[in-house]
Amino acid sequence: MIKLENITKIYNKGKKNEFTALKNVNLTIEDGEFIAVTGTSGAGKSTLLYVISGIDTYEDGSCTLDGTELNRLSDVKLSKVRNKTIGFVMQDFALVEDFSVLENVMLPLQFDKMSGKKKKELAMEAIKRVDIEELAKKQVNQLSGGQKQRTAIARAIVNHPNYILADEPTGALDSKTSKEIMNLFEKLNADGQTIIIVTHDPDVAVRCKRNIRIEDGQVV
Ligand SMILES: Nc1ncnc2c1ncn2[C@@H]1O[C@H](COP(=O)(O)OP(=O)(O)OP(=O)(O)O)[C@@H](O)[C@H]1O
Ligand SMILES: [Mg+2]
Repeated sequence: MIKLENITKIYNKGKKNEFTALKNVNLTIEDGEFIAVTGTSGAGKSTLLYVISGIDTYEDGSCTLDGTELNRLSDVKLSKVRNKTIGFVMQDFALVEDFSVLENVMLPLQFDKMSGKKKKELAMEAIKRVDIEELAKKQVNQLSGGQKQRTAIARAIVNHPNYILADEPTGALDSKTSKEIMNLFEKLNADGQTIIIVTHDPDVAVRCKRNIRIEDGQVV
């Protein structure tokens, strides 16, 4: 379960360009939910994902992941919790372009102590789940947008995280590919994965089971 209580996120606190991006946000996300976060540009959607995933700290309130308060963790502990608990699909894929699909999907496992063979097995399992087995050896800069998005999702799920957070996962895709990616998220959710998607697309939002709207840093 993810629980946000009175979360306030202030960028550049104390400086001239101080900006409060989240104001007193209260939100509970149960395991197995499939959520769309919508809102106009600048509303605070990405910031919300960054707080939940521990990428960003917060200035007030508490954010707990399965009972663990993120702001209380040391950097080392936080990165461990993040690596195991959260799969993040970044807005621009954030893949290593001259690595293969397999190499990209193996990246979150690089500090794990398991053997290289086991890492490869886990990565191939994730690659199969997103249906791009035949592309495993292909370099990312030779893939289509939809194939890159599948690669980014495979990388996000390789550790079997409890939560998948995706920032505009269909933003750069045509409507057919976008539908296919949503089919994939539906499949992952049916397998029990908790999914939170930030989107501008009403066709995407309507396929999620719960919609959260953010306006001006607040959940409305
Ligand atoms: N590093 C930063 N420093 C200062 N202000 C920031 C920073 N990052 C974001 N902001 C501000 O915080 C607000 C929320 O930003 P955020 O990226 O969460 O919006 P968003 O809802 O994801 O928008 P979009 O739909 O355009 O991606 C915006 O007004 C933005 O300008
Ligand atoms: Mg954003």
